[in-house]
Amino acid sequence: MRKTKIYGHRGSKGSFPENTLLSFEQAIKQGVDGLEIDVHLTKDGEVVVIHDEFLDRTTNGSGLIKEYDLKEIKKLSAGSKFTELELYEPHWQQETVPTLQEVFQLLAPYNIDLNIELKTYLVNYEEIEEKVLAIVNQFGNSRKVIYSSFHLPSLIKLKQLDASANIAWLLNQPDTHLKEYMDGLNFESLHINKDIVLSDRSHWTHLSSHIRVWTANSREEIQQLLEMSVNSIITDYPERALSLRNERKT
Ligand code: G3P
Ligand code: MG
Repeated sequence: MRKTKIYGHRGSKGSFPENTLLSFEQAIKQGVDGLEIDVHLTKDGEVVVIHDEFLDRTTNGSGLIKEYDLKEIKKLSAGSKFTELELYEPHWQQETVPTLQEVFQLLAPYNIDLNIELKTYLVNYEEIEEKVLAIVNQFGNSRKVIYSSFHLPSLIKLKQLDASANIAWLLNQPDTHLKEYMDGLNFESLHINKDIVLSDRSHWTHLSSHIRVWTANSREEIQQLLEMSVNSIITDYPERALSLRNERKT
């Protein structure tokens, strides 16, 4: 039987500052099969790894990412806002917003998947698809890279630019003809909100090998998705999901 993969959501977001190299390192140490990261473009066109369009929630900066050059963003702390996390340590303040290149450099020794989510539905980042593909071609050819987005035009463009790209359509609401869309657009997989899948599990069984489900965090949710043999579980608590998967084997 195919093994469900465990992907760390923004690294190990439940315990470490999201989308930082520290968070990715910790998820790798825990043994993840893949990482999910979010990307935006700076004013000077660099691909940076951060979740929101604004700097305010996760850094000590303020304003839209697209209004700052990389050099300015690099001066900010991406760890100092996370004092409420149980494991918080003062050295987290030194974490910065990573570039996509830095993530690939960190991942170089490890054979794990990388899911790059393009945050393109609110801000129009000119040629972000081309820039991301260029970085992947430079650094990431030997690993499985999956591109996802809530913004369908970005995914269609990625596929036009690189017919071999693994594309995953991100969905927050149910739709009746998903498999047809997926096949028609030549997309590899669907990334679906766990509430949609878990509220009607029998509906999704036939697609389970194609779906990665986010963001499943509780033991119960993770167990249910493991029972369904979904392709992958994207979780803030990869350690928990990995240990539940291991328990099932014994
Ligand atoms: O890629 C799955 C998930 O990350 C999508 O939602 O808001 O956490 O990026 P969000
Ligand atoms: Mg995401």
